[in-house]
Amino acid sequence: MSFRIQPPAPSTPNRCQLFGPGSRPAIFEKMAASAADVINLDLEDSVAPSDKDSARANVIAAIGDIDWGAKTLSVRINGLDTPYWHRDVIDLVEKGADRLDRIMIPKVGCAADLYAVDALVTACERARGRARPLDFEVIIESAAGITHVEEIAQGSPRLKAMSLGAADFAASMGMATTGIGGTQENYYMLHAGQKHWSDPWHWAQAAIVAACRTHGVLPVDGPFGDFSDEDGFRAQALRSATLGMVGKWAIHPRQVALANEVFTPSVAAVTEAREILAAMEEAKAKGEGATVYKGRLVDIASIKQAEVIVRQAEMIAAE
Ligand code: COA
Ligand code: MG
Repeated sequence: MSFRIQPPAPSTPNRCQLFGPGSRPAIFEKMAASAADVINLDLEDSVAPSDKDSARANVIAAIGDIDWGAKTLSVRINGLDTPYWHRDVIDLVEKGADRLDRIMIPKVGCAADLYAVDALVTACERARGRARPLDFEVIIESAAGITHVEEIAQGSPRLKAMSLGAADFAASMGMATTGIGGTQENYYMLHAGQKHWSDPWHWAQAAIVAACRTHGVLPVDGPFGDFSDEDGFRAQALRSATLGMVGKWAIHPRQVALANEVFTPSVAAVTEAREILAAMEEAKAKGEGATVYKGRLVDIASIKQAEVIVRQAEMIAAE
């Protein structure tokens, strides 16, 4: 028990983050026209080293030139172990339009990584006279990142969202897989001769959710590489939503509707949540702290669970 009240996470919809390489400006308009809540223009690993400068220029032009509507607009900069990230930050802040909402920092390993980027961003914002401070989002995708996840979650007041990056995470951990998220053939329990597959991403996801919820940051599930496997994407996204994540990346436009479907509370779920709240109001009027709803126990904790669903639905409806 703590006397500290858990801070609320930012109340912006974050059901789907659609990615596109900064070196492929022909798709930027299509990204802007998509149903994703967040757009991530990439300067990092989907851009070849020889294209880094031109991709940065494309992205800076697109921030101001394209109508991004009400979407959250984010640019993924290069990692702090590269010779590109400082130029990404300086040019984005000094030359890019104020429309940019977030910078995504990949491969963070400790809170000092956020401090370093924050110091540079702050200096550039002051030099430019930027009206609105940029937000940060980070990717946890290394052994160091998951080990220091809690200090990272409180690493900067700019931090709004944190994603799990399955592929780099698997590589850094030395996991025996080349898949980007999803079910892993060799991760099973054997019972009575039957295989029961388990979820190798579960621990990292739960650690990210706990760190994020402690510090008022949005926990997000990262990419699912096999964009032909819609059932696999849905299964992964449903597990993430069950664990408390608010959204998932799309690395192909066909994943956007799937993410929106999973991370928008269904009409049935919202109706049930409202009924639980009503049942608990009735119980309270009778001086009771618990009651029965559809043959099962509901109590004061059920109010908080139901409120999560209702708040989520209201926030999405308000957009
Ligand atoms: N956003 C918006 N539209 C996209 C898109 C994206 N990320 N990727 C492809 N499209 C468009 C294509 O231009 C095409 O449009 P058209 O029907 O008008 O011609 C349509 O969607 C179908 O594209 P498709 O041919 O199936 O895919 P592709 O071979 O052109 O591209 C990828 C496939 C995976 C290379 C591409 O989707 C991509 O680059 N994804 C993002 C990768 C990334 O950013 N990774 C970093 C994070 S892990
Ligand atoms: Mg990565």
